[in-house]
Amino acid sequence: MTQTVSWVGKVDWDLLRFHGDEYSTHKGSTYNSYVVEEEKTVLIDTVWKPYSKEFVDNLETEGILGGLDAVIAQHAESDHSGALPDLLARRPDLPVYCSTNGIKSLKGHYHKDWNFKVVKTGDEYDLGNGKKLVFIEAPMLHWPDSMFSYMTGDAILFSNDAFGQHLATEKLYNDLVDQDELYDECIKYYANILTPFSTLVKAKIEQVLSLKLPVNMIATSHGVIWRDNPTQIVLKYLEWSQDYKEDRVTILYDTMWEGTRALADTLALAINDASPATTVISHCLSKFDKNDALTDVFRSKAILLGSPTVGKGLLTAVAGTLEEIKGLAFKGKKAAAFGTYGWSGEAVKIMVDSLAKSGFEVVDEGFRAMWNPDEDALKAAYEYGRAFAAKI
Ligand code: FEO
Repeated sequence: MTQTVSWVGKVDWDLLRFHGDEYSTHKGSTYNSYVVEEEKTVLIDTVWKPYSKEFVDNLETEGILGGLDAVIAQHAESDHSGALPDLLARRPDLPVYCSTNGIKSLKGHYHKDWNFKVVKTGDEYDLGNGKKLVFIEAPMLHWPDSMFSYMTGDAILFSNDAFGQHLATEKLYNDLVDQDELYDECIKYYANILTPFSTLVKAKIEQVLSLKLPVNMIATSHGVIWRDNPTQIVLKYLEWSQDYKEDRVTILYDTMWEGTRALADTLALAINDASPATTVISHCLSKFDKNDALTDVFRSKAILLGSPTVGKGLLTAVAGTLEEIKGLAFKGKKAAAFGTYGWSGEAVKIMVDSLAKSGFEVVDEGFRAMWNPDEDALKAAYEYGRAFAAKI
């Protein structure tokens, strides 16, 4: 990266699921760790626990481990702190710099009284050679303990999870990878992880930009390092943090006997006919990746949610997605619901109520069709779709 800053992380090509089983990582990921070797030698973050021994062994083989003066633990989630127990077992005296909340979460994870050094925004670590690390707390980007570290001289912002993406690559830098793949993973990461904290994202970015610090690189903890026009991703985050939407409608549904699917297909056709410039996306939730579906919700100005009534409720893929939608706290989006039913038909009202409680502007009471939709029902669905397009 520079004469004194090196990447010492792990590329995880095989990672298919992250956060337990919650987040799909079709393109793997990386756990980025950095070593700064000035007069002082400092490690910034580590790797996920399965790669802990390999990571610490590598530090030893490279002659880094014994010379470390400190480790900066910017965030306690175990994909970055997972090698601390092995590292500190071999270097028990090593100071661990973290935020006040970092101690709480590191102790909560590992139950160890390591040599913690608490830092807050503006505190500095003197690296020698006229350079220092300046710490910037970044609470809820995306945990209470999260913080950034800014290296003066080399002008590198170590941003931990912020500005990262789940993309396995040996290329290291943003300008060396496929740009469409890169931005697909960036927006998915923002949509699925950072959306609930958008107000704080905006405020923190504005605070950091107001410092007018030179930034040659943004060194994240996942995926590529931003060295080519690094502020491009900061400006994207600013855009995404402000009730982001495109001229796009996403239809999310599940179906038992193809009735609700027929409604979904008809609605997609109707919205496209009524508003040809609008991109219409439709996903069957029991078959499509839910994190990619949620990314489409993030990009949309409006969504339509569909489920037949089953018993007194919804199909589980739709119910689960509604729970995720609630947790992500999307703002500034419109919605409606649809579905087939045989007798009581509660599903549409359940979806409408849940969408309203989740912060969507629900435009009407939704559309229901009894049993398998016939020609008249599909015609009514088509008219409903055109009317929906006019309301959003
Ligand atoms: Fe990449 Fe919040 O951990």
